[in-house]
Amino acid sequence: MHDSVSEFDLFLDLEPQTDSMEDDVWAGLQDQPRWLPSKYFYDARGSALFDQICDLPEYYPTRTEAGIIRNILPELNARLSNPTIMLEYGSGSSTKTQLLLENLGALTAYVPIDISRGHLLSTGQTLAHRYPSLRILPVCADYGQRIPFDWEAPELDELGKAARMIFFPGSTIGNFTRAVAKDFLKRMRALLDEGGYLLIGVDLVKDATILEAAYNDSAGVTAAFNRNMLDHINARIRTDFQSEAFKHLAVWDASENRIEMRLIASEAMDVSLPQGSISLEKGDYIRTEYSHKYHVDDFGDLARQCGFATEHVWTDANRWFSVQMLRAD
Ligand code: AVI
Repeated sequence: MHDSVSEFDLFLDLEPQTDSMEDDVWAGLQDQPRWLPSKYFYDARGSALFDQICDLPEYYPTRTEAGIIRNILPELNARLSNPTIMLEYGSGSSTKTQLLLENLGALTAYVPIDISRGHLLSTGQTLAHRYPSLRILPVCADYGQRIPFDWEAPELDELGKAARMIFFPGSTIGNFTRAVAKDFLKRMRALLDEGGYLLIGVDLVKDATILEAAYNDSAGVTAAFNRNMLDHINARIRTDFQSEAFKHLAVWDASENRIEMRLIASEAMDVSLPQGSISLEKGDYIRTEYSHKYHVDDFGDLARQCGFATEHVWTDANRWFSVQMLRAD
C-alpha cells in the first residue's frame, strides 16, 4: 500500500539515485572543527525521537508555532481569497499542516515535498482519504534540489492557474547557514509567481538560558537524538562510531545567533571509515547541527534579498517565535 502512486493525479519522483553519505561523512570529519550534516539525524528512530523532542516541556518552538497558527487562521482565511495550492517542504504529517488543510477554505490542492518516499506516500494517502476534495500531488525530492515543477503541464489543468503558497514551518530554515538559507529562499521564490506567498516559521533570538535548555533537555531526549546520528551512519556505511562514548552538548553562540549541537568524545578513540580512520582525543567534538535564530528585521532583510517582501509577522506574546507571511515580489 505504501508504494502505490496510482491514487495521486501526479507523483513527481526526483529521489536522488546516488547516496552521498560516505563522501559527506568523510569530508565533514576532515574539516576543523569536525562536523556532520544534520540531515543524517533522520532515520526512523531519529524521526521518532524528534517527535518526542517536539513534546518536551523545554522545547518551546513546536507548540508556540502551533499556537500562533491556531490564532491567525481567520486572518489567513481572509488573506487567501482565491483558489490556492499549498506546497510544503515536509510530508504533511504535522499538526500545523492539518490545521491549515482543515481550516483554510481557499486550499484546493496540496503538494508535499519530502525525501522519504515511503513516508511521503503513506502520509499522502492518509490525507487523500481524510480530505477527498483536496488534490494531493506528492513530490519526492531532496530539500537541496531545484524542483522543475511545470505549472503548465496538461494534467494539472486548472491547478496551473491557482495561486500558490509555500508552507515552511518549524524554523527548519534555521538549520541552514545564512548563505544556504539564502539559496533555499531563492529556490522557494522560483516556485512562485509574483504575488504568491511563503508562510514560514522563524524562531527568534531570546535569552540564552531558554535556548540552551530547549536543546539540552533534562530527560535526555535531545542527547539520544544527537547520538542516534552516529548509529544511523553506522547502519548505512562502514563506520564504527561508539555512540555511547560521546557526550551531547548544545551551546548558544551569541556572535552568530545560533545554537550549535555537539558530540564530544569522552575518551580518546579511533573511528574507522570506508576511506580510512580518524583519531579523536578526549574532549574533541563533532558539530552535528546549527539552529539559527533571527531578529524579525534581520530575517526581513534576508527575505528581501531573495525576492520576497514581508507582508505580515505574527508572534506569540513572549516574542519567542514568529510565523511570517512573505509575498513574492
Ligand atoms: C528541525 N529543526 C528545526 C530542529 C531545531 O530546533 O533546530 C531540530 C532540533 N535539533 C535539536 N532539537 C531540535
